[in-house]
This record gives sequence, C-alpha cells and structure tokens, in this order.
Amino acid sequence: MTDTTPASPYGTLPPASPPASRKPISLPRLNEMRARGEKITMLTAYDATFAAVADAAGVECILVGDSLGMVCQGLTSTVGVSLADMCYHVQSVVRGIQRVQGTAWVIGDMPFGTYHESPEQAMRSATALMQAGAHMIKLEGGGWTTETVRFLVERGIPVCAHLGLTPQTVHALGGYRVQGRGEAAAVMRRDALALQDAGATMLVLEMVPADLSAQLTQQLPTCHTIGIGAGKGTAGQVLVMHDMLGVNLGKNPKFVRNFMQGQGSVLDAMRAYVQAVKQGEFPVDAEHAW
Ligand code: KIV
Repeated sequence: MTDTTPASPYGTLPPASPPASRKPISLPRLNEMRARGEKITMLTAYDATFAAVADAAGVECILVGDSLGMVCQGLTSTVGVSLADMCYHVQSVVRGIQRVQGTAWVIGDMPFGTYHESPEQAMRSATALMQAGAHMIKLEGGGWTTETVRFLVERGIPVCAHLGLTPQTVHALGGYRVQGRGEAAAVMRRDALALQDAGATMLVLEMVPADLSAQLTQQLPTCHTIGIGAGKGTAGQVLVMHDMLGVNLGKNPKFVRNFMQGQGSVLDAMRAYVQAVKQGEFPVDAEHAW
C-alpha cells in the first residue's frame, strides 16, 4: 500500500506502516532477557520523535521520567512537575512509538505528591498515566511505598520502584549524593526485598555502590534492577537521554558517557548505547560507579 500522508516539515518520522522490527516488549519478554543474561536497556524520552528514534535504535524500555522537569521545563529539581505534565509527555511518547509501529515498553513516572497520601491517591494518579498510554508506572521511595506498590500491582498496574538517590527527595537527602553506604545498605536491602515481595517487577537503583547493586540484583530474581550510577552488575541500565547525547552545558555526572562522540546521528548514538550495555562495555565500574 502506498503511504499518502504528506511529508511533514516538522520532524521526519517514517511512514505509518513499517514492519515491526521486533516483538512488542512485555514483562514476559523482559523476564526472558533476564533469564538468558541479556541486559535490559532503558533511556528516558519525553517527546514523539526521540521516543521513535530510541525505539528504532533497539532500546527496550522508554522512561518518561520526571527529569523532564529539568531537561524540558528548566526547573532546578523534579519537585515542580505535575501529573498533567507527565500525562502530556507520556501521550507524546506513545504517539511517536505507535506512529512507527514501535515496540518499546513505556514507563510513566509518578510525580512528587501524586502517590504520597494513600494507595487510593496513587491509584488515581497511576490510572491517569496508564490511560495516557504507559505500560508501567514508576514511583520513588523505600519501605513506606510498599503498601502502595502492593495495592497497584493487585489492581493490574505493573510497578517500577526506585531506590538510592531519589531526586524527588533531594532536599531531604541534602543533595545528589551516593546512597546505601555503610549501615544504610541494610535498610536498602530490606526495602528492595519488601518491594519485590509487594510485586514490583522493576527497580531503578540510582547512585548506589556497585557492590551493593550487584548483590541486590542477585537477591531479586523477579524484580529487574536497572542501574544509573550503580555499576555494571544490574539487570539493565538507564540514562537520561539529554545526558547521553551530550546535550548539556553543565558538567555531566560521573556515571554518564556521551554516546554522541564519534557518531553522526542520534540514532547511531542510541544504537551505540544499546550495544555497549548489551556487551557489558558500559558502565565501567572503575569510571562510572562508586
Ligand atoms: O526521572 C527520571 O528520568 C529518572 C531516571 C533518572 C531514572 O527517574
């Protein structure tokens, strides 16, 4: 069939019906990847075009993170991001992926204050993100979130938890610092096990010592650890897209590699990221971890 859609001057997504390049990513497919030792790749994306490019590059999971507060909205933290903002960006990402018949798993971040009051409040917020097109929601925090995670999972919402440096609580943590050192390691281990027990099937570990992340990964067979500044021993890796593309006037955190270097396009940079993660070439513990 010939595509009759006129070419758009605003970004160039391909015609609407290319053949799907892989099976849709689902929880069973992520479980299979983990079982065969294949690393899971994740990048953040916030709009249709970058999401479509990430999907085409082979990224399995796209996180519509509340980091959009910083990289899209110019805020100084994620605290000011609203649920309406998140739904708008989830819809944009999902449209971009659908437009190219993409297959990535889309995770919508629950912003600050939208799940803190009660499981019922969390259910309402998660419903908005799922109705915007997310396949899974992510929320930050330790033991206090366990009841909420169980409540959502029992009601059919896949949940990604987030431990370590949890940016929504940066003011309470006193800055963007490594978490889980010394006695805090035992608390993180207890929280991670409780979150798995509550049904979380993914867990972002941010700025967590590499040894602890690797141990947690071994102890969490049904909850896939996704590291950012957490060493190479996790089940998968995530980076904020702008950081890994070098779209950053400030200093990148030590856990970031600029994948644009040596590449001629964003698509190639994202492909290089996928390849480096799959082949165990990124991250390098001595360089990117603690
Ligand atoms: O909001 C976000 O992009 C995140 C990642 C940094 C994991 O939570």
